[in-house]
Amino acid sequence: MKNNIIRISLALLLTAGMLACADSDGDPIVEEPEETAEPSLDNIRLKAKFGIGAAVTNSELNGQYANTLRTHFSQITGEYEMKMAHIWKGENNYDWTAADGMVNFAATNNMDVHGHTLVWYNSFPNWFRNANYDSATFETKIKTYIETVVGRYKGKVISWDVANEIFNDDGTLRRDGCPVFRTFNDPIAFYGRCFEYAQAADPDAKLFYNDYNVVLAAGKRGAMRQMVNRFRADGYPIDGLGDQFHYMASTNRTTIRNGLTDLASTGLQIHMSELDIRINVNKDDNFVYLPSEQAKHAEAYKDFVTFFEAIPQSQKFAITTWGVSDKRTWLTSWWHPKEYPLLFDENFQKKKTYEGFLEGLQ
Ligand code: XIL
Repeated sequence: MKNNIIRISLALLLTAGMLACADSDGDPIVEEPEETAEPSLDNIRLKAKFGIGAAVTNSELNGQYANTLRTHFSQITGEYEMKMAHIWKGENNYDWTAADGMVNFAATNNMDVHGHTLVWYNSFPNWFRNANYDSATFETKIKTYIETVVGRYKGKVISWDVANEIFNDDGTLRRDGCPVFRTFNDPIAFYGRCFEYAQAADPDAKLFYNDYNVVLAAGKRGAMRQMVNRFRADGYPIDGLGDQFHYMASTNRTTIRNGLTDLASTGLQIHMSELDIRINVNKDDNFVYLPSEQAKHAEAYKDFVTFFEAIPQSQKFAITTWGVSDKRTWLTSWWHPKEYPLLFDENFQKKKTYEGFLEGLQ
């Protein structure tokens, strides 16, 4: 019965475009014409079967920048808008201006928001850091912060990096500049409770642990796995793991592929959360982004995306690029002024890297 209906529908669809009918239980079936059911092969957002994100800056959400986002991306992340120091200006003083702006942009344009990040050693506001709270006071305040932020964006932010960069590459806990390390005897249990507070504030949000060099550093991956095992044993929630993916066109492919496979063996959702690929790998002051470099760069994007596609389908959360166009990227100040790490050039034209990304998608 159902087969007949589908066959008839398909015949009618050639002229009708879209047709609604009913199956044997009387439930409506909406068949879409085959032509539009096929993803567009020249657009990363349409071709990907998972989220395609970009880190954005709220103040730039207009003009060509906004058009590029709408066309090529399905989700956005604040490059700093949702970091603690930018929101939490004083104990009872929250500045929502930038975070609300990007959340509204996403809603208007039917995009998802990935929240970055609730607890990061590098973004505790100075007033909090300088207070030197005892562990109980520290935790009460952070609990309130998490409840307030996650609660405000309940249903609007689909996922959160609850904790960011808590480990060194060798798997030890980060000590330098980390207020959590110096305050708690058992920092991992504290982070576990942070995941719990986030879950209570929005039970539907997916909760991630995020870090850099994850697929390169076996020590860090081991520590993450141990944390996940402990969370599971102790009943703390966690849905996914992010590797920021700030790598280079020269980064060893076998290491990346094996690292990703190992990460996915946790069974959690995987996020390539801050992807950018450096091409001026030697910080050459005379670097020129020649066609030969562009081709090498495109190959790197293709390889990285191909490796992501190789993990189990159900674990592919998203690939987020850390920025939109080479016009503005954190790497020109943090790495080298001559750096061109993204998918669009400074005029928002697609680069060869975009084609590489597209080719890597299944
Ligand atoms: C960076 C932003 O890109 C910069 O604009 C900001 O000044 C510092 O933070 N790992 C992270 C991101 O998790 O939040 C960082 O973003 C880059 C490294």
